[in-house]
Amino acid sequence: MPALAAESLRAPPETDPGDSRPIASEAALATTAARLAGNPEDWTVAERRLADAAPPACPVSLARQVERVRQAIVGGADPLGDAFCRLRTAAARRPTGAVYTPHNIVTAMVGWIAAKHCQPARVVDPGAGSGRFIAKAAEVFPLSELVAVEFDPLAALMLRANANTLGFGERLRLFVGDYRDLSLPPIRGTTAFIGNPPHVRHHGIDAARKTWLSDTAASLGINASQMAGLHIRFFFKTALLGRDGDLGCFITAAECLDVNYGAALRRLFLGRLGGAEIRSLAAAASAFPDIATTAAIACFRIGTDAPTLHLRHARTDAELMRPAPVRAVARASLAQSERWTPLILGGTTKATTWSATRAVLGDLFRVHRGQVTGANRVWIAGPRAADLPPRYLLPAVTRAREDVR
Ligand SMILES: C[S@@+](CC[C@H](N)C(=O)[O-])C[C@H]1O[C@@H](n2cnc3c(N)ncnc32)[C@H](O)[C@@H]1O
Repeated sequence: MPALAAESLRAPPETDPGDSRPIASEAALATTAARLAGNPEDWTVAERRLADAAPPACPVSLARQVERVRQAIVGGADPLGDAFCRLRTAAARRPTGAVYTPHNIVTAMVGWIAAKHCQPARVVDPGAGSGRFIAKAAEVFPLSELVAVEFDPLAALMLRANANTLGFGERLRLFVGDYRDLSLPPIRGTTAFIGNPPHVRHHGIDAARKTWLSDTAASLGINASQMAGLHIRFFFKTALLGRDGDLGCFITAAECLDVNYGAALRRLFLGRLGGAEIRSLAAAASAFPDIATTAAIACFRIGTDAPTLHLRHARTDAELMRPAPVRAVARASLAQSERWTPLILGGTTKATTWSATRAVLGDLFRVHRGQVTGANRVWIAGPRAADLPPRYLLPAVTRAREDVR
């Protein structure tokens, strides 16, 4: 890794200067972001509407607020993104999959790209949010052209504010729209795709867009389930946009490694996408403080098919940052395996042989606690559970089969 990148890859502090005097509403957040977001002529109509929606009650305190936010951005934090996640509840962010990535994970992922390719000609961040990945990439790759894609106009304004304050606005093309509609002009050199594709379940995807996946997957010789969520669609779009030799690193829900509707993604990863490495993060790592989830980082180089892939499990997000041994697993073994988590953890799967000495019980049996009722919504705490004592309301990482509509 070049010296320049090593210095830039130190994780910034997780701070929210809004803690001392918090930005009080999304309207105030839009107003603050707009003050830092550069030339309004570049904005979309939706962004301008947001910026104009709430004229400040007190211009002096707004100016102070803006200055505090500016200083925090320069210091390496994302006060606007932090405020967004505080103001818009996790439930309200779920339909768009807006879960922002902690800085240490962003830093580790940009570090993977830097280690594999010291200077991509272009970096693309699909579902860019407030721009954590693109801002880190701008710092580590000072010559790269930057493309961010985000369809939420408030996030777009925050991203512009970060880009303008950090001085990479000139290099940035921000596409405010749906990633599936993006086209990329050809360039000389490598494109690096990096980010955290939105995790939106198939119920939230409109019918017209659903057929897009089957058609796209079919064009790559893959049969894709309609149950696939938006994050899987982002991987397919990336495989379509990328050229041979382009590379990428996405963080996504680890369930894709094992569940049926993740099968299409696993085939894509072993095929056109050119999967190279997977790092899984234990739920206990609390990778994402506001949701109970497991996560996996998938690294790929498009169009390649190395005979082995590198797998690694990190128990904590700090472990993710440290160099550590990886397991080299034959591409063919992954292709034969229905579930990849056991391979990552160092065991075997049903598809591998009995001669393996490290089989664990879970490779041979599926053990489920609970009862089969056929009415899973009974077990999900909804409005009816309002009076239950908190000791019974436990967040759980599940196999996401529940019907929570
Ligand atoms: C998981 S968040 C990641 C945000 C940011 N990249 C980060 O890691 O901090 C996904 C983002 O994708 C955006 N998004 C959701 N659907 C999208 C779509 N179809 N096209 C573009 N962006 C989308 C959401 O608004 C959200 O900001």
